[in-house]
Amino acid sequence: MVAVTPQPPAASARLTMQSIEIAAETTAIRSLDWDRDRFDIEFGLNNGTTYNSFLIRAEKIALVDTSHQKFRQLYLDLLTGLIDPTSIDYLIISHTEPDHSGLVKDVLQLAPQITIVGAKVAIQFLENMVHQPFNHLIVKSGDRLDLGQGHELEFVSAPNLHWPDTIFTFDYKTGVLFTCDAFGMHYCDDHTFDEDPEILSADYKYYYDCLMAPNARSVLAALKRIEKLDIKTIATGHGPLLLHYLPDWIDSYRVWSQEQTKADVLVVVFYAEDYGYSEQLARSIAHGIVKTEAAVELIDLNTTELQEVRELVNIAAGIVIGMPPQSNTDAHAILSTILAAAHSKQSIGLFESGGGEDEPIYPLRNQFQEIGLSEAFPPILVKEAPSQSIEQICDEAGIDLGHWVTRDRTVKQMKSIDSNLDRALGRLSNGLYVLTAQKGDISSAMIASWVMQASLDPMGVAISVAKDRAIEALLHPGDRFVLNVLEEGNSQALMKHFLKRFAPGSDRFSGVKTYAATNGSPILADALAYLECEVKSRLESSDHWIVYSSVQVGRIAKQDALTAVHHRKVGNHY
Ligand code: FEO
Repeated sequence: MVAVTPQPPAASARLTMQSIEIAAETTAIRSLDWDRDRFDIEFGLNNGTTYNSFLIRAEKIALVDTSHQKFRQLYLDLLTGLIDPTSIDYLIISHTEPDHSGLVKDVLQLAPQITIVGAKVAIQFLENMVHQPFNHLIVKSGDRLDLGQGHELEFVSAPNLHWPDTIFTFDYKTGVLFTCDAFGMHYCDDHTFDEDPEILSADYKYYYDCLMAPNARSVLAALKRIEKLDIKTIATGHGPLLLHYLPDWIDSYRVWSQEQTKADVLVVVFYAEDYGYSEQLARSIAHGIVKTEAAVELIDLNTTELQEVRELVNIAAGIVIGMPPQSNTDAHAILSTILAAAHSKQSIGLFESGGGEDEPIYPLRNQFQEIGLSEAFPPILVKEAPSQSIEQICDEAGIDLGHWVTRDRTVKQMKSIDSNLDRALGRLSNGLYVLTAQKGDISSAMIASWVMQASLDPMGVAISVAKDRAIEALLHPGDRFVLNVLEEGNSQALMKHFLKRFAPGSDRFSGVKTYAATNGSPILADALAYLECEVKSRLESSDHWIVYSSVQVGRIAKQDALTAVHHRKVGNHY
């Protein structure tokens, strides 16, 4: 495996290209986006990302996926340096999201003879996207395409990983399985392969949680379909290619997905993938739900069956619906099925995606309330492209719904702890603090008591943050926050305020005196002291993130006052 055309880094843009032979007659063309810090709901990107495309040069020539528009010139220069585009026979589209298909139109201009290969929905989507006729070949699971020289390709349908259009492509000669989003991670560096899994595993899991966990059943179905293949390498669409630890990476997907599907509390999120911002909002809500003990299943109203809907609604503890367009009569039939199967023990949440002709939300809300379902969050109405703050609202709405449907289970778990252990653990005492954070137009706050100094040089603190806290999204490496220290005898008002239940997206600081720290986060004017911190790393425990941060600035308001202390009786909750 030899790098054939190393590219000089573009000094300011930090967009670079890499091309490397990964197997016989197979070249990876990787677009390295070093600084991307946000990717739809994965707003905690720390290590950039890559968009990977592949070229198989056998008797017939196939390109697998393209790249993001921002790489237009770099990608096309590299591609045309590798091959005369007019000699490419096929462009295989694994998935039509623009980070992979953003340059299809450009490739078609250079290579109008090309035949685009994809799932039926992918081809339909591309027809609407490129607005010009093109040769195409619709494929489904089990279909084969022979490129010659032993490169026989087999297609594997992998719907919902992470759109309904996804196909994998397996090359029988090289054992390379091209999977696009599945098995990917947002991790950018010059290493083409997965040499060091310790560095990569946190990003791999985070990516799974964000993109794949809401479709765990589909992940398991896809794993079943690829079981029979002798896979040597998984050529993903994002991050390093998986070669050295392949069985471990695959097994992680299996274990995580089995855990998801075994969870006894399920929330089903219905949305219309091709309508407004429905899919994006649905994913943000699902992202919040998976932070809790509940499992989630994302269902596209356009591709589901009534029987599946009935079965899922029957077993669901919670239902979320993104309103489909009024013109979508099939989706109407599904709404009726959901209403007919829903029952009073369930929780409901609704959102409108801004497509312009949504089915009205309030009549449906009334119908669910008449059946007796409890509303987990007020309807979310979004008319414009979702901003970070809208996604945060959706994330928090998902967390609220997840907490609601798992509340009985949480109480049961608390009661099940051995009482001696419970009381002994409760003797660990801590101070009382309010952690405040501002990132872009999102702010959040939480009471913290599991806080300790964790290093001397540089000064550092460790804070334990439950995985299902909304503020967790603002505490990734590089993020900044303020740790406000509460004062003994003067903490009640702040405690009462921050222990309130806040509606998704509501201003946590309304009615509280604050001023801005140099790092932009709010300092509570009534705190005894504050520390300005920057997150350096996170350690995952079963249900908490232990966030280690360096401390840059600190001030104290009263020299002689003491820190408020939290004395507990039991260790099974805060
Ligand atoms: Fe990497 Fe779903 O696009």
